[in-house]
Amino acid sequence: MSPAEAKQQIEALSAELKQHTYNYYVLAMPTISDFDFDKKLETLAALEKQFPGFLDPDSPTQRVGGFITKEFQTVRHRWPMLSLGNTYNEQELLDFDQRIRKAIGDNFQYVCELKFDGLSMSLTYQNGKLIRAVTRGDGTQGDDVTTNVKTIQSIPKQLKHGDYPAEFEIRGEVFMHLKAFERLNQERVENGEQPYANPRNFASGTVKLQDSSEVAKRPLDCFLYFLYAERPPFKTHWESLQAVKSWGFHVNEHSRLCNTMDDVLAFIKEWDKRRFDLSYDIDGIVIKVNSYAQQEELGFTAKSPRWAISYKFKAEQVQTELLAVTYQVGRTGAVTPVANLKPVLLAGTTVKRATLHNANEMLRLDLHKGDWVFVEKGGEIIPKIIGVNMEKRVTGAPTIDYVTECPACATPLTRVEGEAAFYCPNDEGCPPQITGKIQHFIGRKAMNIDGLGDETIEALYQRGFIHHISDLYKLYEQIDDLKKMERFGEKSINNMLDGIEKSKQMPFEKVLFGLGIRYIGETVAKKLAVHFKNIDNLMAATLDELVVAEEIGDRIAHSIIEYFGNEHHREEIKKLKAAGLQFVAEEKEVVLQSEALAGKTFIISGTFEKSRDELKDIIEQNGGKILSSISAKLNYLVAGDNMGPSKLEKAQKLNIPIISDEELMGMIGG
Ligand code: IVH
Repeated sequence: MSPAEAKQQIEALSAELKQHTYNYYVLAMPTISDFDFDKKLETLAALEKQFPGFLDPDSPTQRVGGFITKEFQTVRHRWPMLSLGNTYNEQELLDFDQRIRKAIGDNFQYVCELKFDGLSMSLTYQNGKLIRAVTRGDGTQGDDVTTNVKTIQSIPKQLKHGDYPAEFEIRGEVFMHLKAFERLNQERVENGEQPYANPRNFASGTVKLQDSSEVAKRPLDCFLYFLYAERPPFKTHWESLQAVKSWGFHVNEHSRLCNTMDDVLAFIKEWDKRRFDLSYDIDGIVIKVNSYAQQEELGFTAKSPRWAISYKFKAEQVQTELLAVTYQVGRTGAVTPVANLKPVLLAGTTVKRATLHNANEMLRLDLHKGDWVFVEKGGEIIPKIIGVNMEKRVTGAPTIDYVTECPACATPLTRVEGEAAFYCPNDEGCPPQITGKIQHFIGRKAMNIDGLGDETIEALYQRGFIHHISDLYKLYEQIDDLKKMERFGEKSINNMLDGIEKSKQMPFEKVLFGLGIRYIGETVAKKLAVHFKNIDNLMAATLDELVVAEEIGDRIAHSIIEYFGNEHHREEIKKLKAAGLQFVAEEKEVVLQSEALAGKTFIISGTFEKSRDELKDIIEQNGGKILSSISAKLNYLVAGDNMGPSKLEKAQKLNIPIISDEELMGMIGG
């Protein structure tokens, strides 16, 4: 290779790897596998070695990787958060073992641990109290995410009595269990939000949320695996793991002390199989020299310790033929491409379909008709198309481009700026959107209508009985026509009509959720119902008034305003009201406990140890009143963590006293 060619390749590879690092750490949306990333990094390192003149100090080979996000405070790590060298086969592992033996002789032990696929976190404790949680960031400094991490149940906020050092740092991996991932991701789809590709992205997206009360609703867990202290009270890593466990930390139970390389290889072999039985994702095994003294002797390279290495499992990969790309249109109009594959066995299941996520992903894959594709199932649940086998591509095969028109109704698709998904804007006339919305409305979590299912909705729509939700409440007028429908007996019709009639008693919050307003999930619907009390108040609310409500940020507020700004939607609400549905929240009776706050008005903003609903109840039970927006009439702003700067500014401008939840409790003598 000529120096000019090498220079060009080094620059291209550097740029590509930097983009992948950014995708991984900042966007939490990697687009290549770890394996491919490491291979590219190795190629770059080899080139730089051969042509040292082109080595840029900012090259991806010279840094641990990672970026800092802007919203959180940046904190320097006292001990840098290094990464681990990776190995992918037995030989590379034996080479590692040889390097160790050469440096420290044969008298040592290894600790083998599972390599959890989450995001690493550094926790600092002083006198047993959790004082700071910081993400890895670029390895030297990371984001202070203490408020969010405090919501993780398995991380102790205060240690029980124990022999722990007065100050220490402990590192571990924050992750989401697969069950929770599937449930919450399903909820996201139901709320019209983009699902996460895997539990790791969900976990890292969660830790970086601005609203810690939202974090608290997404169950995360954390395995701790490394202790740092000025003078660690142990001689070995194994001892430290046992001690850390006794202090109350979640330490993984599968770690094993190994005396020989055979033990290590047996551990790897065992977990390459058993990993699919775990309730969380792992992507390999970490092998660490046990003795601290020997760890010190071995030391570090610029990026990773010499005394530890990871063995990455190979994601199971197969090749199969791409039969077609079809599209699903969701109830919100989002159009998702799906690859239909020639059925193939992969990690124990037959794979026929794989999601292609969105137009960007299709662009990346550059699929052609008749392509053979590589399908991978790593720790992840949904099979992924990794790439195309170019050797099998038929010359001249036409490309498969993302559709420009809705596959269901032929309306040209539109894209919201900054979003990956394309939408069909024809929400009034596009069949899957129409039926999808009604199916959402009758669903278990919304109106839970007995005697009606998705297929019946489909059939009723096909026969022209229903087009809008409100048409359900007119079905009783058409009993005779309904009876003419195939496989629709009198009994099922009566059951259905009974179910529809009963649904009129469902509470306002369920009706609101059932409307299917984008981003309004079950919890948000509940909060809106409590805050605004009835649909008229909600429909009349301004942006300022909306964002004052608990859990309502700009994105949700805009979505509500857009929804009720639509004439069709207002007309539909009118019809549903006329049909007798509940559009007023049931009032909770306030039992007055004192008059301490009588005549005083409050707004609660930000996050607290108690929920905002609890604080609101406390204020009302002591005679206080909650206002809906900041104005001169407001007496106090109760401010918690992560409060929006605009609210603070407005309150300051109006000279409104800003108090903490503790001060509020002080006012009622509690
Ligand atoms: S020890 C200096 N142990 O893997 C040693 N890391 O590729 C630092 N990881 O940044 C890490 N499971 O996020 C260690 N049992 C385990 C691990 C583990 C997962 C992650 C960690 C680290 C990355 C390195």
